[in-house]
Amino acid sequence: MEKTFAMNDGTKIRSNSALTPYFLKGYYYVFRAFKFIIISLKVLAYGIFHPSVIFNFLFGVVTEIAEFHKRCGGRVRNFREAALYRDLTAAVRFFKSNCFNADFGTIRPMEAQVLAAVAAHLRPKTVFEMGTYTGFSTLHLIENTPPDTVIYTLDLPQDKAEIVLRNDLHEAHRDIKNINLNARRHFDAAREGGRVVELFGDTMTFDFSPYYGKIDFVFIDANHSYLYVKSDTENALRMLSARGVILWHDYDFIHPGVFKLINEIARDKRIYYIERTRYALYIKNAEGVRP
Ligand SMILES: C[S@@+](CC[C@H](N)C(=O)[O-])C[C@H]1O[C@@H](n2cnc3c(N)ncnc32)[C@H](O)[C@@H]1O
Repeated sequence: MEKTFAMNDGTKIRSNSALTPYFLKGYYYVFRAFKFIIISLKVLAYGIFHPSVIFNFLFGVVTEIAEFHKRCGGRVRNFREAALYRDLTAAVRFFKSNCFNADFGTIRPMEAQVLAAVAAHLRPKTVFEMGTYTGFSTLHLIENTPPDTVIYTLDLPQDKAEIVLRNDLHEAHRDIKNINLNARRHFDAAREGGRVVELFGDTMTFDFSPYYGKIDFVFIDANHSYLYVKSDTENALRMLSARGVILWHDYDFIHPGVFKLINEIARDKRIYYIERTRYALYIKNAEGVRP
Protein backbone atom coordinates (compact mmCIF):
# COMPACT_ATOMS: atom_id res chain seq x y z
CA MET A 1 0.00 0.00 0.00
CA GLU A 2 1.33 3.46 -0.89
CA LYS A 3 2.34 5.68 2.04
CA THR A 4 3.50 9.30 2.38
CA PHE A 5 6.96 9.95 3.89
CA ALA A 6 8.30 13.31 5.03
CA MET A 7 11.84 14.12 3.93
CA ASN A 8 14.31 16.17 6.01
CA ASP A 9 13.62 19.37 4.09
CA GLY A 10 9.87 19.12 4.76
CA THR A 11 8.89 17.84 1.29
CA LYS A 12 6.88 14.62 1.01
CA ILE A 13 7.13 11.55 -1.18
CA ARG A 14 4.70 8.72 -1.82
CA SER A 15 6.05 5.17 -1.98
CA ASN A 16 5.15 1.52 -1.33
CA SER A 17 8.30 0.91 0.70
CA ALA A 18 9.38 2.40 4.05
CA LEU A 19 12.97 2.06 2.81
CA THR A 20 12.52 4.57 0.00
CA PRO A 21 13.52 7.70 2.02
CA TYR A 22 16.71 5.93 3.19
CA PHE A 23 17.47 4.78 -0.30
CA LEU A 24 17.07 8.32 -1.65
CA LYS A 25 19.26 9.76 1.08
CA GLY A 26 21.94 7.10 0.52
CA TYR A 27 21.82 7.68 -3.23
CA TYR A 28 22.26 11.42 -2.68
CA TYR A 29 25.36 11.04 -0.49
CA VAL A 30 26.99 8.27 -2.56
CA PHE A 31 26.43 10.33 -5.72
CA ARG A 32 27.99 13.43 -4.05
CA ALA A 33 31.00 11.43 -2.79
CA PHE A 34 31.49 9.93 -6.24
CA LYS A 35 31.37 13.41 -7.84
CA PHE A 36 33.88 14.68 -5.27
CA ILE A 37 36.33 11.88 -6.12
CA ILE A 38 35.96 12.49 -9.86
CA ILE A 39 36.51 16.26 -9.45
CA SER A 40 39.57 15.67 -7.20
CA LEU A 41 41.09 13.35 -9.82
CA LYS A 42 40.41 15.91 -12.56
CA VAL A 43 42.06 18.68 -10.49
CA LEU A 44 45.04 16.44 -9.83
CA ALA A 45 45.43 15.57 -13.51
CA TYR A 46 45.07 19.24 -14.50
CA GLY A 47 47.48 20.27 -11.73
CA ILE A 48 50.26 18.06 -13.09
CA PHE A 49 50.34 20.30 -16.19
CA HIS A 50 49.40 23.54 -14.36
CA PRO A 51 51.28 23.50 -11.01
CA SER A 52 49.91 26.92 -9.98
CA VAL A 53 46.49 25.28 -9.49
CA ILE A 54 48.00 22.86 -6.99
CA PHE A 55 49.88 25.74 -5.34
CA ASN A 56 46.60 27.67 -4.93
CA PHE A 57 44.91 24.58 -3.57
CA LEU A 58 47.67 23.97 -1.01
CA PHE A 59 47.65 27.66 -0.14
CA GLY A 60 43.93 27.34 0.61
CA VAL A 61 44.54 24.28 2.79
CA VAL A 62 47.32 26.06 4.72
CA THR A 63 45.04 29.10 5.19
CA GLU A 64 42.29 26.89 6.60
CA ILE A 65 44.73 25.22 9.01
CA ALA A 66 45.97 28.63 10.13
CA GLU A 67 42.38 29.74 10.73
CA PHE A 68 41.63 26.61 12.73
CA HIS A 69 44.82 27.03 14.75
CA LYS A 70 43.82 30.57 15.76
CA ARG A 71 40.35 29.48 16.83
CA CYS A 72 41.58 26.55 18.85
CA GLY A 73 44.19 28.07 21.07
CA GLY A 74 45.58 31.21 22.53
CA ARG A 75 44.11 34.23 24.16
CA VAL A 76 43.31 36.17 21.02
CA ARG A 77 39.60 36.70 20.71
CA ASN A 78 37.26 36.53 17.79
CA PHE A 79 36.55 40.01 16.37
CA ARG A 80 32.85 39.14 16.39
CA GLU A 81 32.94 39.76 20.17
CA ALA A 82 33.97 43.40 19.67
CA ALA A 83 31.58 46.35 19.73
CA LEU A 84 33.38 47.62 16.62
CA TYR A 85 32.32 44.46 14.76
CA ARG A 86 28.70 44.98 15.81
CA ASP A 87 28.82 48.63 14.69
CA LEU A 88 30.38 47.64 11.38
CA THR A 89 27.76 45.04 10.62
CA ALA A 90 24.85 47.17 11.85
CA ALA A 91 25.66 49.99 9.45
CA VAL A 92 25.57 48.15 6.15
CA ARG A 93 27.83 50.15 3.84
CA PHE A 94 29.93 49.45 0.82
CA PHE A 95 33.58 50.29 0.58
CA LYS A 96 36.01 50.93 -2.24
CA SER A 97 38.22 47.99 -3.06
CA ASN A 98 40.10 46.83 -6.11
CA CYS A 99 41.02 43.20 -5.64
CA PHE A 100 42.78 42.85 -9.00
CA ASN A 101 45.85 44.75 -7.86
CA ALA A 102 46.48 42.31 -5.01
CA ASP A 103 49.81 40.65 -5.59
CA PHE A 104 52.27 38.29 -3.98
CA GLY A 105 53.43 40.25 -0.92
CA THR A 106 50.33 42.41 -0.54
CA ILE A 107 47.21 41.88 1.52
CA ARG A 108 44.66 39.55 -0.11
CA PRO A 109 41.39 40.74 -1.70
CA MET A 110 39.26 39.82 1.33
CA GLU A 111 41.78 41.57 3.57
CA ALA A 112 41.66 44.65 1.36
CA GLN A 113 37.90 44.77 1.86
CA VAL A 114 38.27 44.43 5.62
CA LEU A 115 40.93 47.16 5.70
CA ALA A 116 38.65 49.39 3.63
CA ALA A 117 35.68 48.71 5.91
CA VAL A 118 37.58 49.34 9.14
CA ALA A 119 39.20 52.52 7.78
CA ALA A 120 35.88 53.87 6.49
CA HIS A 121 34.16 53.12 9.77
CA LEU A 122 36.86 54.61 12.00
CA ARG A 123 37.17 57.81 9.93
CA PRO A 124 40.68 58.37 11.32
CA LYS A 125 42.22 61.84 11.16
CA THR A 126 45.67 60.25 10.91
CA VAL A 127 46.88 56.87 9.68
CA PHE A 128 50.38 55.41 9.98
CA GLU A 129 51.23 52.45 7.76
CA MET A 130 54.44 50.45 8.23
CA GLY A 131 55.20 48.59 4.98
CA THR A 132 54.06 50.40 1.82
CA TYR A 133 55.37 48.01 -0.87
CA THR A 134 53.21 48.54 -4.01
CA GLY A 135 50.85 50.75 -2.05
CA PHE A 136 47.94 48.35 -2.55
CA SER A 137 46.94 48.69 1.10
CA THR A 138 47.80 52.43 1.06
CA LEU A 139 45.40 52.91 -1.85
CA HIS A 140 42.63 51.28 0.16
CA LEU A 141 43.39 53.64 3.05
CA ILE A 142 43.35 56.66 0.74
CA GLU A 143 40.08 55.70 -0.94
CA ASN A 144 38.22 54.87 2.26
CA THR A 145 39.10 57.71 4.61
CA PRO A 146 37.77 61.29 4.69
CA PRO A 147 39.48 63.83 2.39
CA ASP A 148 41.26 65.52 5.32
CA THR A 149 42.83 62.32 6.67
CA VAL A 150 46.62 62.32 6.54
CA ILE A 151 48.22 58.96 5.74
CA TYR A 152 51.88 58.37 6.58
CA THR A 153 53.37 55.32 4.93
CA LEU A 154 56.86 54.06 5.76
CA ASP A 155 59.07 51.63 3.86
CA LEU A 156 62.75 50.92 3.38
CA PRO A 157 64.79 53.16 1.06
CA GLN A 158 64.19 52.20 -2.56
CA ASP A 159 67.88 51.53 -3.16
CA LYS A 160 68.57 48.13 -1.60
CA ALA A 161 72.27 49.01 -1.30
CA GLU A 162 71.34 51.64 1.29
CA ILE A 163 69.60 49.11 3.53
CA VAL A 164 71.44 48.01 6.64
CA LEU A 165 68.99 46.38 8.99
CA ARG A 166 70.08 47.23 12.49
CA ASN A 167 68.81 43.97 13.78
CA ASP A 168 71.07 41.54 11.99
CA LEU A 169 68.79 38.56 12.36
CA HIS A 170 68.76 36.16 9.46
CA GLU A 171 64.97 36.17 9.70
CA ALA A 172 64.75 39.94 9.22
CA HIS A 173 66.95 39.81 6.11
CA ARG A 174 65.16 36.82 4.66
CA ASP A 175 61.88 38.70 4.99
CA ILE A 176 62.93 41.40 2.50
CA LYS A 177 64.88 39.15 0.11
CA ASN A 178 62.14 38.90 -2.50
CA ILE A 179 60.73 42.39 -2.10
CA ASN A 180 61.11 44.57 -5.16
CA LEU A 181 61.52 47.96 -3.56
CA ASN A 182 61.14 49.66 -6.91
CA ALA A 183 57.75 48.10 -7.56
CA ARG A 184 55.33 50.60 -9.07
CA ARG A 185 53.13 52.17 -6.42
CA HIS A 186 49.39 52.15 -6.94
CA PHE A 187 49.01 55.71 -5.73
CA ASP A 188 50.60 58.99 -6.66
CA ALA A 189 51.46 60.90 -3.48
CA ALA A 190 51.92 64.16 -5.41
CA ARG A 191 48.41 63.90 -6.81
CA GLU A 192 46.93 63.35 -3.34
CA GLY A 193 48.00 66.89 -2.41
CA GLY A 194 49.66 66.25 0.96
CA ARG A 195 47.17 63.61 2.13
CA VAL A 196 49.78 60.88 1.68
CA VAL A 197 53.23 61.29 3.16
CA GLU A 198 55.75 58.74 1.89
CA LEU A 199 58.47 58.06 4.44
CA PHE A 200 61.63 56.04 3.92
CA GLY A 201 63.64 54.29 6.61
CA ASP A 202 64.05 51.20 8.73
CA THR A 203 61.20 50.88 11.25
CA MET A 204 63.75 49.78 13.88
CA THR A 205 65.68 53.07 13.69
CA PHE A 206 63.01 55.47 12.38
CA ASP A 207 62.18 58.35 14.75
CA PHE A 208 58.49 57.90 15.55
CA SER A 209 58.53 60.48 18.38
CA PRO A 210 56.90 63.31 16.33
CA TYR A 211 53.82 61.07 15.98
CA TYR A 212 53.46 60.03 19.64
CA GLY A 213 49.84 60.20 20.79
CA LYS A 214 48.67 61.51 17.40
CA ILE A 215 47.74 58.52 15.25
CA ASP A 216 44.18 57.16 15.07
CA PHE A 217 44.92 54.08 12.98
CA VAL A 218 48.21 52.16 12.69
CA PHE A 219 48.62 49.41 10.12
CA ILE A 220 51.65 47.15 10.71
CA ASP A 221 52.85 45.15 7.72
CA ALA A 222 56.63 45.69 7.41
CA ASN A 223 59.30 43.26 8.60
CA HIS A 224 57.86 40.07 10.04
CA SER A 225 60.75 38.95 12.27
CA TYR A 226 59.87 38.81 15.97
CA LEU A 227 62.15 41.65 17.10
CA TYR A 228 60.91 43.90 14.32
CA VAL A 229 57.22 43.29 14.99
CA LYS A 230 57.88 43.79 18.71
CA SER A 231 59.61 47.11 18.08
CA ASP A 232 56.97 48.19 15.52
CA THR A 233 54.22 47.33 18.01
CA GLU A 234 55.88 49.29 20.82
CA ASN A 235 56.16 52.29 18.51
CA ALA A 236 52.55 51.85 17.35
CA LEU A 237 51.33 51.83 20.96
CA ARG A 238 53.26 55.05 21.64
CA MET A 239 51.79 56.68 18.52
CA LEU A 240 48.16 55.79 19.30
CA SER A 241 45.75 58.61 20.05
CA ALA A 242 43.03 58.09 22.68
CA ARG A 243 40.71 56.52 20.06
CA GLY A 244 43.53 54.65 18.34
CA VAL A 245 43.35 51.24 16.67
CA ILE A 246 46.22 48.97 15.58
CA LEU A 247 45.82 46.42 12.80
CA TRP A 248 48.58 43.85 12.24
CA HIS A 249 48.86 41.84 9.09
CA ASP A 250 50.21 38.26 8.89
CA TYR A 251 49.04 36.94 12.23
CA ASP A 252 49.36 33.27 11.31
CA PHE A 253 51.75 30.39 11.85
CA ILE A 254 53.48 31.09 8.53
CA HIS A 255 54.83 34.25 10.19
CA PRO A 256 55.97 32.84 13.55
CA GLY A 257 57.42 36.19 14.68
CA VAL A 258 54.07 37.96 14.32
CA PHE A 259 52.19 34.99 15.75
CA LYS A 260 54.39 34.82 18.85
CA LEU A 261 54.30 38.56 19.49
CA ILE A 262 50.53 38.87 19.14
CA ASN A 263 49.94 35.90 21.45
CA GLU A 264 52.30 37.46 23.97
CA ILE A 265 50.69 40.89 24.04
CA ALA A 266 47.26 39.26 24.23
CA ARG A 267 48.19 38.31 27.82
CA ASP A 268 47.41 41.81 29.03
CA LYS A 269 45.74 43.49 26.06
CA ARG A 270 42.50 42.53 24.41
CA ILE A 271 43.48 41.49 20.90
CA TYR A 272 41.09 40.17 18.27
CA TYR A 273 41.68 38.04 15.20
CA ILE A 274 39.48 38.69 12.19
CA GLU A 275 38.04 35.58 10.58
CA ARG A 276 39.05 34.68 7.01
CA THR A 277 41.97 37.13 7.21
CA ARG A 278 45.46 37.22 8.70
CA TYR A 279 44.64 40.32 10.74
CA ALA A 280 44.95 40.94 14.45
CA LEU A 281 43.35 44.06 15.89
CA TYR A 282 43.71 46.17 19.03
CA ILE A 283 41.27 48.90 20.05
CA LYS A 284 42.69 51.22 22.68
CA ASN A 285 39.49 52.55 24.18
CA ALA A 286 38.01 49.05 24.50
CA GLU A 287 40.56 48.19 27.21
CA GLY A 288 39.55 47.31 30.73
CA VAL A 289 36.11 45.83 30.17
CA ARG A 290 36.29 42.08 29.64
CA PRO A 291 32.98 40.51 28.63
C1 LIG B 1 54.33 42.66 2.94
S1 LIG B 1 54.96 44.10 2.24
C2 LIG B 1 53.70 45.30 2.57
C3 LIG B 1 52.49 45.11 1.70
C4 LIG B 1 51.51 46.25 1.74
N1 LIG B 1 51.11 46.56 3.10
C5 LIG B 1 50.29 45.88 0.93
O1 LIG B 1 49.49 45.05 1.37
O2 LIG B 1 50.10 46.42 -0.16
C6 LIG B 1 56.16 44.51 3.43
C7 LIG B 1 56.91 45.79 3.15
O3 LIG B 1 57.65 46.10 4.33
C8 LIG B 1 58.88 46.63 3.96
N2 LIG B 1 59.85 46.43 5.04
C9 LIG B 1 60.48 45.28 5.38
N3 LIG B 1 61.33 45.50 6.39
C10 LIG B 1 61.20 46.81 6.72
C11 LIG B 1 61.83 47.64 7.67
N4 LIG B 1 62.73 47.17 8.50
N5 LIG B 1 61.49 48.95 7.70
C12 LIG B 1 60.57 49.46 6.85
N6 LIG B 1 59.93 48.71 5.92
C13 LIG B 1 60.26 47.40 5.84
C14 LIG B 1 59.27 45.88 2.70
O4 LIG B 1 60.19 46.64 1.95
C15 LIG B 1 57.92 45.70 2.02
O5 LIG B 1 57.70 46.69 1.07
